[in-house]
Amino acid sequence: MKTYRSFYQPLAIGAPAPFREPPVALERMIHFVPPHLEKIRAKIPQLINQVDVILGNLEDAIPADQKEAARQGFIEMAKANDFGSTKLWTRINSLESPWVLDDLTEIVTQCGNKLDVIMLPKVNGPWDIHFLDQLLAQLEAKSGIKKPILIHAILETAEGVNNIEAIAASSPRMHGMSLGPADLAASRGMKTTRVGGGHPEYKVLADSAINSQRTGYQQDLWHYTIGKMVDACMAHGIKAFYGPFGDFSDPEACEVQFRNAFLMGCVGTWSLHPSQVAIAKRVFSPDVEETKFARKILEAMPDGTGAVMIDGKMQDDATWKQAKVICDLADLVCEKDPELAQAYQG
Ligand code: GLV
Ligand code: MG
Repeated sequence: MKTYRSFYQPLAIGAPAPFREPPVALERMIHFVPPHLEKIRAKIPQLINQVDVILGNLEDAIPADQKEAARQGFIEMAKANDFGSTKLWTRINSLESPWVLDDLTEIVTQCGNKLDVIMLPKVNGPWDIHFLDQLLAQLEAKSGIKKPILIHAILETAEGVNNIEAIAASSPRMHGMSLGPADLAASRGMKTTRVGGGHPEYKVLADSAINSQRTGYQQDLWHYTIGKMVDACMAHGIKAFYGPFGDFSDPEACEVQFRNAFLMGCVGTWSLHPSQVAIAKRVFSPDVEETKFARKILEAMPDGTGAVMIDGKMQDDATWKQAKVICDLADLVCEKDPELAQAYQG
């Protein structure tokens, strides 16, 4: 464990100082694009206004013989576009892969000033973050990068789940974590071929004493992991995200999975298909009526203390904090989304 004094020191001479507080950003959806495809790169200018984060994917789903083209395509799209308030991320290949060293050296040295976050797959423990942290500091120093590039870990191995708190606490460069349900299922030996979402056989059966029909109720396979991830992240001031939902033909189940994650504390999700962008926007922007009510609470308790009744419901310091979470998020959404801004004010 580092000392308090050294925790915030840059890890290389000439590297930018780490953030003490993570930058405030609206990240309702991390929209994945395969950067080796020319026709996808051509659509980036329109995409910038539609999503909160654009992520150039270099890892799984990119064929081995296209890894270099994906890396070059990402550098090209980073250089060619002005992303404004939309964040630019990349998912690099995992640390044991033959591609990761070139992913990092080429991307950081050629377009590091445009890059906000690196998503690191298959994180097993804090040692993975420490390695990337040090290497990034070297590359930032070499390239004269002014703003530190953050690290986002994917939680997708049993070992990573065991070490989740140490990963969350590993570095001031940590941005947050996403659930990786496909790799995690494989790593844990779960018996499912689905990418996220529920499973019809994961259920509880009503007790025969109260229900002779023995109705079965499907449970959420990911509840435990998401809860663990939210606690680890929030305790360390970083953000938790749901991850991929692979069944594009089932938008209703996707929306329910996203909403469960949102209600439990996640701030965003991945969108792997254009149809999931609207779902993520709907789910990860606070509800209009709930926001109006939350604003009433803040107005009724300007200093956040005491107790008041609003519409028959008791409010106190704790509900004031709940209302603040919702209002702060709504304020961020208003900056990006004029339609929702009107709805929140109306
Ligand atoms: C994502 O990378 C997953 O494995 O689910
Ligand atoms: Mg994965």
